[in-house]
Amino acid sequence: MSCSFPALKCWAILSRPLRGLNKNAKTFAPSVAPFGPLGCNVISSMSGKINEHVVGKSAPRKEGRRKVTGAALYIDDLTFPEMLHGVTVRSSIARGLIKNIAFAGDIPWAEITVVTAKDIPGENHVALIINDQPYLADGVTNHPEEAIILLAHADKYLLEEARRNVRIDYDESPALFTLEDSVNKKEIIWGEDNVFKSFLVEKGNVDDVWESADLVVDGEYHTGAQEQLYIENNGVIAIANPAEGVTVWGSMQCPYYVHKALVKLFALPEDKIRVIQTETGGGFGGKEEYPSMIAGHAALLAWKTGKPVKIIYDRAEDMVATTKRHPSRTRHRTAVTKDGKLTAMEIDFVIDGGAYCTLSPVVLSRGTIHAAGPYSCPNVRIRSSAVATNTPPHGAFRGFGAPQSIFALERHLDKVAHAIGLEPDEFRRRNFVTEGQTTATSQVIREKVEMGQLLDRALKLSDYHAKREKFAGENPTSRIKKGIGFASFMHGAGFTGSGEVYLQSVVGAEATADGRVKILSASTEIGQGTNTIFSQIAADALGVDADLIDVAQPDTSSVPNSGPTVASRTCMIVGKLVESAVLGLKQTLIGSGLLQEGYDQKEFQNACRHYVAQFGALKTFSKYQPPPNVNWDDEKYQGDAYGTYAWAVYVAEVSVDLLTYEAHVQDFVALQEVGRVINPVLAAGQIEGGVGQAIGFTLFENVVWDKGRMINNQMTNYIIPTAADIPPIRVFFEENPYAYGPSGAKGIGELPMDGAAPAILSAIENATGVRFNHVPLMPEAMMKELV
Ligand code: MOS
Repeated sequence: MSCSFPALKCWAILSRPLRGLNKNAKTFAPSVAPFGPLGCNVISSMSGKINEHVVGKSAPRKEGRRKVTGAALYIDDLTFPEMLHGVTVRSSIARGLIKNIAFAGDIPWAEITVVTAKDIPGENHVALIINDQPYLADGVTNHPEEAIILLAHADKYLLEEARRNVRIDYDESPALFTLEDSVNKKEIIWGEDNVFKSFLVEKGNVDDVWESADLVVDGEYHTGAQEQLYIENNGVIAIANPAEGVTVWGSMQCPYYVHKALVKLFALPEDKIRVIQTETGGGFGGKEEYPSMIAGHAALLAWKTGKPVKIIYDRAEDMVATTKRHPSRTRHRTAVTKDGKLTAMEIDFVIDGGAYCTLSPVVLSRGTIHAAGPYSCPNVRIRSSAVATNTPPHGAFRGFGAPQSIFALERHLDKVAHAIGLEPDEFRRRNFVTEGQTTATSQVIREKVEMGQLLDRALKLSDYHAKREKFAGENPTSRIKKGIGFASFMHGAGFTGSGEVYLQSVVGAEATADGRVKILSASTEIGQGTNTIFSQIAADALGVDADLIDVAQPDTSSVPNSGPTVASRTCMIVGKLVESAVLGLKQTLIGSGLLQEGYDQKEFQNACRHYVAQFGALKTFSKYQPPPNVNWDDEKYQGDAYGTYAWAVYVAEVSVDLLTYEAHVQDFVALQEVGRVINPVLAAGQIEGGVGQAIGFTLFENVVWDKGRMINNQMTNYIIPTAADIPPIRVFFEENPYAYGPSGAKGIGELPMDGAAPAILSAIENATGVRFNHVPLMPEAMMKELV
């Protein structure tokens, strides 16, 4: 298709202000390079139909009715004839040799199917990045709750009794339980140095700066583990036999990750493995990798018994055995001039990966790239590493390492500002990166970035300056102290660096015989709105109603590999493929002569029907191509880390009770620039949910460890914020359309996890005068400093 509009006109259309949710949103003047051919396709398809288009409107959630009426079927709602249940027998120790396994008690063991590592037909590891994690421990165990044996039986209550009567004898070995002990190599528990992965980012030379610097400021910052706590626990059902291969249904983010892992586990050809995502009650990263494990377990039991096997974790098992957010330690050394310009930043970022590598390299990567934030500094060195401990592997959780490193940075910059006698906002303002300047990886910012304007607006919306003044003047003897603080940050969308190029994601679109369009994608709906925004993007591109669009259930036998549902990539990366796939359909229909430009919806539907009747099925596929001028060096960790970033300033107002030492967030302003907003209600929901989850990360969610095991693995003692603990979260968007996102959209899912923790601790510092540098910040810790 050709671009029939001059570039400026494209922009005039695309940069129209957001309607609906936020009337105050203003729009930046367009300044990014003109659209490439894909963008022009979007525009020409919009011609004359602006008012009927659905991007920018809060279309109702596609599967909302099914969910609220209870018609949606989750994995535990499904049963199959002759289905058995499966359970997992897990390690009771952190590290050691498995000496003996005995089947004790008054249990009819002959009726129970037992699977051990010896029963695995293929390779005994969960294929992911470096394949060090076994499906079933074989002779050695490296963390508490590691899977050792699987049991299956039709009676799940008998099975639970049986699980308790498996006796495993161990020869215990010394183990590591803290990041510090691992860094200090108190024991070597993984490889030669306990290090799964490390990165070095160098810009300029920080070593040349220290001596001549006006001021050098050091700091150390810590973040704790956090449980994803999706509403629906992990669960799967498998059918597996040599004749038909392996089929798995389950709650998951990434059907093709599970597919890849099962191919190796069973040593079967790809077409003998089928993975189907069922309705999924939340993921937050927690269902990125673990479903490959539980799917393999159910499939191994199914393979041995010849019957369908269901494994559903209860909450306690899900919390104690599956992944959490990586705990972290960050050290900063920063040089500044007298007038508050950053001249050198040296950052040492370490995350605790747990017992196996799993996704730690990618979590570390994102944490590393975000560690120096949206600031311009000529000399930066970031060293980072992910290290091993004998806890269950830590994994993906909303933000992928960025919330950890951004927390450290924003806390540290408050300290630096204080040291040179500048207000936190004035100090940030003097150092924000702007168009044409470079980030820590020397990525040249090629889009209009106005962090200073975002900051102004966020501080105005929150009445920041007036409140600082007011709180400072309040009675120093009062029991309740009030404070206000902010954080400024950015978050890259999509896979890091060349990641999207390697993924080669594909999306299909099908015109059906009944005159509808079906999106074929492996991107999963996990509550965040994938089905709805894909329908809106497709409808917008075709000039039809969103109701005309169906989204296929992710099933590896019928949808292409669109990559994983992670990393804030679904809207921006996969959504763009949805857009170009449906434009391919339209092009084919027009090319066949069955459809004329300027069509209405009826004509479009008729064209689909006639095409299928005359020529058979019509499917078009679109494959990812990187935007031009995105260059990334994986060796040096230099260049364009992401195609684009979302930019944000969050402001928190808190009260601290000097009797109970509780902190309450009283007001929260979340202002962000995320490109075009596809669906204002869903987008605001993402921000509100992420901020709520981040408030939990900051003030409530405390994983208590005992020798590598979480011991508060229930919702009665792992406390998350309730509605009473969450303030009004005031969400504001600015729109600066991104040329290579669908209708100009960027990613949004992870961003809101980044800003709350540093903003809240900054507000607590403002309230109490004490600079806390770790989360979760529990009342006990506050009491220690404030009493
Ligand atoms: Mo997410 S932490 O990218 O699953």
